[in-house]
Amino acid sequence: MRIDVVSIFPEYLAPLELSLIGKARQDGLLDLRVHDLRDFTTDKHRSVDDTPYGGGAGMVMKPEPWAQALAAVAAAGGATAGAETTEGKPAKPVLIVPSPAGERFNQALAYELAEEEQLVFACGRYEGIDERVIEWAEEHFTVRPMSLGDYVLNGGEVAVLAMVEAIGRLLPGVVGNPDSLVEESHSDGLLEYPVYTKPSSWRDREVPAVLLSGNHGKIAQWRRHEQYRRTAERRPDLLEAFDAGKLPRADRTAF
Ligand code: ADE
Repeated sequence: MRIDVVSIFPEYLAPLELSLIGKARQDGLLDLRVHDLRDFTTDKHRSVDDTPYGGGAGMVMKPEPWAQALAAVAAAGGATAGAETTEGKPAKPVLIVPSPAGERFNQALAYELAEEEQLVFACGRYEGIDERVIEWAEEHFTVRPMSLGDYVLNGGEVAVLAMVEAIGRLLPGVVGNPDSLVEESHSDGLLEYPVYTKPSSWRDREVPAVLLSGNHGKIAQWRRHEQYRRTAERRPDLLEAFDAGKLPRADRTAF
């Protein structure tokens, strides 16, 4: 997979050189490039923002540097050049625009986006990017405004760190033991069960006896029950969707 991130703070994305994502890049599993939006300006101040039409507080990101940057990264994403979808239409890279006004990002979207050839992230700052950039980009990209959650960050960079990590770890070979992707929170619509390690007794607290029993059937049943209980307590919204069959159904016969 190729990922391009455009930002006025490229240093913000430095953590993507670390840990599993950094290793995936080194191993050639992920081709991730970070671009400075100011490199696509033409004035001597390298300006990227201006005052909003209609008035109001803050500044808006100017359209032209964005169009230049996005055209350059789309052209550079060789994987999509000339490629066709199964319907015979040219494949477009996906442009993700992090925004509190976007579609809420979740694990299902992480799985979906992990299938793409090229993802481009456009990190807005200030009051946002001139809306005409989004309209123009529809011609060249599949545009997906996406929110990390119902709160406001100072810009898209932190959201990109989270989304790239969530997507990147699903790419084949990135996580050493793929089994660990199967039983984690959100993979089946429920939260993960609690986990324990040695010692079995710690500060007068015991590991649940069933986990020491060696009875794999009972352990699986206990874990499923804990998933259900925890989800009901912490995220009743998820449980509602799970019960309504909107989320992947796993075996709940124990309940
Ligand atoms: N930019 C600012 N706030 C954001 C949020 N909640 N999600 C994604 N991008 C953002």
